[in-house]
Amino acid sequence: MSKITVVGAGNVGATCANVLAHADIFNEVVLIDIQGNMAKGKALDTWQQAPIDHYSTRITGGDDYALTADSDIVVITAGIPRKPGMSRDDLIATNAKIVVSVTKSILQYTPNPIIIVVSNPLDVMTYACWKASGLPESRVLGMAGVLDTARYRAFLAEALDVSPKDIQAMLMGGHGDTMVPLPRFTTVSGIPVSELIDAAALDAIIQRTKVGGGELVNLMGTSAWYAPGAAAAQMAISIIKDEKRVVPACVRLTGQYGVNDVFVGAPVKLGRQGIVNIIELKLDEAETALLHQSAGAVKEIVDVLDTMNLI
Ligand code: NAI
Ligand code: 2OP
Repeated sequence: MSKITVVGAGNVGATCANVLAHADIFNEVVLIDIQGNMAKGKALDTWQQAPIDHYSTRITGGDDYALTADSDIVVITAGIPRKPGMSRDDLIATNAKIVVSVTKSILQYTPNPIIIVVSNPLDVMTYACWKASGLPESRVLGMAGVLDTARYRAFLAEALDVSPKDIQAMLMGGHGDTMVPLPRFTTVSGIPVSELIDAAALDAIIQRTKVGGGELVNLMGTSAWYAPGAAAAQMAISIIKDEKRVVPACVRLTGQYGVNDVFVGAPVKLGRQGIVNIIELKLDEAETALLHQSAGAVKEIVDVLDTMNLI
C-alpha cells in the first residue's frame, strides 16, 4: 500500500493530486485544505474522473488530518501568494505559520513522512518545515528546480525547434531571480547546447527562465499551477518508485559547494528514503560565485524568519 497526502487544495495542490491520480502509482491520495469542502469536492471530482481516464488510485479529501494517517509522502502547497500592500516579511510570517502548523498536524498522524514543500518563498519554507518537523534532512525537500528547469527546457525546445523530451538540464540556487541555470550542464540528446545555439540567444533564455514565474503572474494575475503541480508529482513518483532519478531539488547543504546550513537547489538523487545523495558537480569559479550569491540571498530571508521566533 502506498499513500500520499497533498496539503492545500488550491491551484497547485489540486493539480498535483490530479496528476498523481492519473499516474495510477499510489494506492491512495488524500487532499487536505482548511476549506474542507473544497478539498472534499475536488477529490470527489478527481475520483469521478477515474472511470473515464482509467486509473484505480483512490482519492479523498477534507480538513481532517486523521485522513492523512500513515502517508508515505506529503506535499505541502498550503499558503497564500503575496498581495498588494504586503511586505516580503508579511508573506514570510504568514506562510511560515501555515507551513509550521501543517507540518505539526501531519506529524501527529504520520511520524516519519517524506515531505516535499512547494509553498513560497520556497527555500525558506523548506527550511521552516524541516526545522519544525525535526525530521532528518534527507526527508524534507523543496520543489523548484524541476519546475525551473522545465521552463528552461521548454524555452530551449522552442528556440531550437526540437522536442522538449530531448533537452536535459541542471540548475542550482534559490527559487527566485538569483537561480543559477547551468548551460555547461545542458544538452540536447547528449549534444552540448552551446553547439546548437549562440551565446546571446542562450543568455536571453536564461534571463527569461529566471523571471519565468513572474511572466505567468503577469499573464494570469496569479502564479502558475499546471507545471508546478506536475513537477511536485514527478518528484513524489520518483521517491515512491525508488527510481533514483537525478533532479534539482531544494535541499539542506551542509558544506557541499562551500555552502553550509542553507536550503537551496542542488542536484540530488531521489529514492525511497527521500534524498539518496546530493551530487557535487565541479562548478567553475563563475558558477560557484553565482551559487554563493543565491545561497546568500536565501540565508538573508532565513535570518529574518529566525528573528520572528515562529518555529
Ligand atoms: P492557492 O491560493 O490556489 O491555494 C492555496 C491553498 O492553501 C488554498 O486552497 C488555501 O485554502 C490553502 N490553505 C491556506 N492555509 C492553509 C492551512 N493552514 N492548511 C491547509 N490549507 C491551507 O495557491 P496556489 O497557486 O496553489 O499556490 C500555493 C503555494 O505554492 C503558494 O505559496 C505559491 O506561491 C506556491 N508556488 C510555488 C511554486 C514553486 O515552484 N515552488 C510554484 C507555484 C506556486
Ligand atoms: C512560480 O515559479 C511563483 O513560484 C511560483 O511559478
